[in-house]
Amino acid sequence: MSSDSERLEIRWNPEQPINEIKYMGDPPVERALLEEIADLRKQAGPETIILGHAYQRAEVIQFADVIGDSLALSQHAAALEQVKNVIFLGVHFMAETADMLTPRDVPVVLPDLRAGCTMADMAPVEEVTEAWRQLSTVIDVSTVTPITYINSTADVKAHVGKNGGTICTSANADKVVKWGLERTEKIFFFPDQHLGRNTSYKLGIPLDDMILWDPDQYLGGNTEEQIRNAKVILWRGWCSVHQHFQPQHAVYWRKRFADINILVHPECMFEVVQQADYAGSTGYITKMLKQAEPGSKWAVGTEHNLVSRLAIDHKPRGVEVYSLAPYACLCSTMFRITPEALRDSLKALLNGRLQHKIEVDDDVKHYSLIALEKMFEITGKE
Ligand code: 13P
Ligand code: SF4
Repeated sequence: MSSDSERLEIRWNPEQPINEIKYMGDPPVERALLEEIADLRKQAGPETIILGHAYQRAEVIQFADVIGDSLALSQHAAALEQVKNVIFLGVHFMAETADMLTPRDVPVVLPDLRAGCTMADMAPVEEVTEAWRQLSTVIDVSTVTPITYINSTADVKAHVGKNGGTICTSANADKVVKWGLERTEKIFFFPDQHLGRNTSYKLGIPLDDMILWDPDQYLGGNTEEQIRNAKVILWRGWCSVHQHFQPQHAVYWRKRFADINILVHPECMFEVVQQADYAGSTGYITKMLKQAEPGSKWAVGTEHNLVSRLAIDHKPRGVEVYSLAPYACLCSTMFRITPEALRDSLKALLNGRLQHKIEVDDDVKHYSLIALEKMFEITGKE
């Protein structure tokens, strides 16, 4: 599993003639709508920055100034200067993180507030703090480092910040988990059990030293002895999109093409990552395919919009890209950012309104920033 993050990529050129719109969508959207967005984008000028996650639909993300994985986008947000507004094409926790990292007077808007993350929703802060309280009845919690995946609410980020912990993304999880394991006897990893398990195993922790914490059960469904013996406690959360990839899909592709490369996101379950040749963040996946040899074949286990865009982009070079699963694994919340929603955000900005502004409470922001700064201290801001 790699910890490389894709370098930032600047895509949108405001001088680009409107007839160069590259992606029309599938099924295609009205050309007039894309032309309207292009025109509004130009009017908004360089004071407005559009940050976009790689899972956004092609017809929307082609308007992003910066495309990246969660790490690259948060690094970029932290470095923004001389910008008036940010439009975030992604999901709620990403826009929240950007809001905390950008200067106080730079508002961040999310074109559709319903664009959440089902995995982040699996760890409500009330359940996380209750789990921490229950843990403290069995062991001294100062021997545990809480680590939350960036796919979590700002409240959960604040919880780890208050308790000496930090945040990781899929691109830097190796370094962060290693730091946590060196700092204390145990780590408590929220909310993605798969990223936590895959990373800890890669760092040499046997599966027997990991326990699952089910928030619906007292002590997460564990005995006191199991808690005392565990090195890694994994919150019972998962990504509903990556959960679809199964080990038998890898078996299928290997039978179909002996020379297939299997490349997956570490949110996939342990058994799938074990079958893969490579695993890493969306930035890593993008980079691997950019470097792929002509004639090579790839079965990719991640979100549908990214896989289909990579298939289109690399086809002319003779690189064949397939979805690891035999059907499209779509992130339906990422998909909520439609071209219409982006158009409406731009229109509102040009009329002096901030539509769907993301704002994090000051106290939550204070503690979340402690955790985010710790992450940058461990893995770098560049
Ligand atoms: P990355 O950090 O790899 O971009 O992943 C974010 C995400 O939500 C994957 O499901
Ligand atoms: Fe959340 Fe999964 Fe969608 Fe990523 S792909 S934003 S983890 S639901």
